[in-house]
Amino acid sequence: MCGIIGYVGKRNTSKLLIDGLKKLEYRGYDSAGICILNNNNLTTIKRKGKIKDLEVVEGISKIKGNIGIAHTRWATHGEPSQINAHPHTDSKGEIALVHNGIIENYHSLKELLIQDGYIFTSETDSEILVHLIKKFYMDDLETAVKNALSYVEGTFGIAVLHKNENRIVVARRGSPLIIGIGENEMIFASDAIPIMDYTKRVIYLNDDEMAILSANDFKICKIDGEIVDSEIHEIKWSIDQIEKKGYKHFMLKEIFEQPEAMENVLRGRIKEGKIKLTIDFDVSKLERIVITACGTSWHSALLGKFFIEKHVNIPVEIDYASEYRYRQTIVKDNDLFVVISQSGETADTLAALRKAKADGAKSIGLINVVGSTIAREVDSGIYLHAGPEIGVASTKAFLCQVTALILLGLYIKQEKGEKLDQEILKELFNVPEKIKKCLNLSKEISEIAKNYTHSRNFLYLGRNNNFPVALEGALKLKEISYIHAEGYPAAEMKHGPIALIDEEMPVVFIATNSAILDKVISNMEETRARKGVLITITDNGNEAINRLSDKIISVPRTHEDLSPLINVIPLQLLAYHIADLKDLNVDRPRNLAKSVTVE
Ligand code: G6P
Repeated sequence: MCGIIGYVGKRNTSKLLIDGLKKLEYRGYDSAGICILNNNNLTTIKRKGKIKDLEVVEGISKIKGNIGIAHTRWATHGEPSQINAHPHTDSKGEIALVHNGIIENYHSLKELLIQDGYIFTSETDSEILVHLIKKFYMDDLETAVKNALSYVEGTFGIAVLHKNENRIVVARRGSPLIIGIGENEMIFASDAIPIMDYTKRVIYLNDDEMAILSANDFKICKIDGEIVDSEIHEIKWSIDQIEKKGYKHFMLKEIFEQPEAMENVLRGRIKEGKIKLTIDFDVSKLERIVITACGTSWHSALLGKFFIEKHVNIPVEIDYASEYRYRQTIVKDNDLFVVISQSGETADTLAALRKAKADGAKSIGLINVVGSTIAREVDSGIYLHAGPEIGVASTKAFLCQVTALILLGLYIKQEKGEKLDQEILKELFNVPEKIKKCLNLSKEISEIAKNYTHSRNFLYLGRNNNFPVALEGALKLKEISYIHAEGYPAAEMKHGPIALIDEEMPVVFIATNSAILDKVISNMEETRARKGVLITITDNGNEAINRLSDKIISVPRTHEDLSPLINVIPLQLLAYHIADLKDLNVDRPRNLAKSVTVE
């Protein structure tokens, strides 16, 4: 989704901004631009397409100036185009602005500004901001921004330059901004990754705060004026964690990092048969758990429901965050509200959290990005420690989310005074080794993948706790290969999807050992009878499975309740290899964004 970067200091700003934009590419975007201030003159260059299209614009690398802002745009209002790209400037080119988020009252503001004679060139909601700031500008950018924002409804992360001021004003409501404090330089961005090359000392701007940045100084205050004493945090990630390290794609690297990622999420959290989590409130009396999330994180929530209801005997409701935030919801005294998010910035998940908290819920976040907005707003949290995830299609974060949910479930059980299933605790430590065995199947899976690069549809079927795995397998495939794929509970197939099955339809079955494996095999028979092409993930060399399957992917056996942690791996690899064979942009699939900061 849209990305912002800006700089004030001594360096070659044009190069720094372009490099920074490249680091933001993974978020997903369709156009980009930069604006640099030099000698009371703003130079703005923007292009539709990729950063490399911007980079080759004649003269861009030679623009002088040590202060600038830049943006990658992911279209919401108005098509992807050069005109709609940011930075936006007023008609005299005195003020330039980049914006992430959505201005909800932009229609009414635009009408007022047009009546005042302001001329709009783009179709974006963002452009109103630059004219509004211009309207209030009387020799002081900070005051003009404050005044303008007091009229704005919606979400924003903005950075603004004025040709006569050697400073940048940034502000946030709902769209993240992180400020890196360097030696005689300041660099800010919508996530930490482009900042880390320059400094690891950062301030996370909170909602309704703004910062005024010059090379040697910064001031943080509320948009309404009150000075804020912000804490400076240290980023713990290192640059080499965000390099490809010889892998063709980040996604493949991240798939292969999963054994280590799982060890990291477990580390120090199981000791002497007990779960150690730092939860700041009592969970022994819980009567209900509500989990909300989006996308892949929602699939891990569903898996959490299966595990917790079985092992902890507490009802678990799950909800899409985008639905939770707008429907009538109930929060009771002994409820726990759990949010799951890799980025910790997903707008719907954040809104759902705020709503539940306003209704009095106690909250726990399962978050990967340290210091992200959701991580800071939950009452208590479990960091996933998956390390930076760059590939848009989530893989290692999913694995860590599911592991963290298992830990959370067992922790609640322990706090209720109940005995923990030691077999599960022990087996959790064996899973990373078993995942490594699945990763060794990558070559074999790429051979299987060759048969399906021209498929138009896929079905993924599983039952019980492998139904969410089917959903996740289907999501991975559609995200990166653009093949239509549906995940279904295997038995539900006969109520609709069975009509689609013919010899052109690959059907991926998850048929690992479970109390209902025979039922899954019956569903395989029904599929085969309609000439479906079966690709089966199994840990069981059973005669029926061998007879019914066109392709078999054999995975190591684990505890039935942990099997999703294993079974998802070949599905990630299958999606990856199909997309790679189709020569698609695996890490940055079309239309998708890594961090969805608008609703
Ligand atoms: C986007 C990403 C998905 C992710 C979802 C939720 O759609 O492309 O991979 O699962 O957002 O993101 P979150 O950061 O909240 O887990």
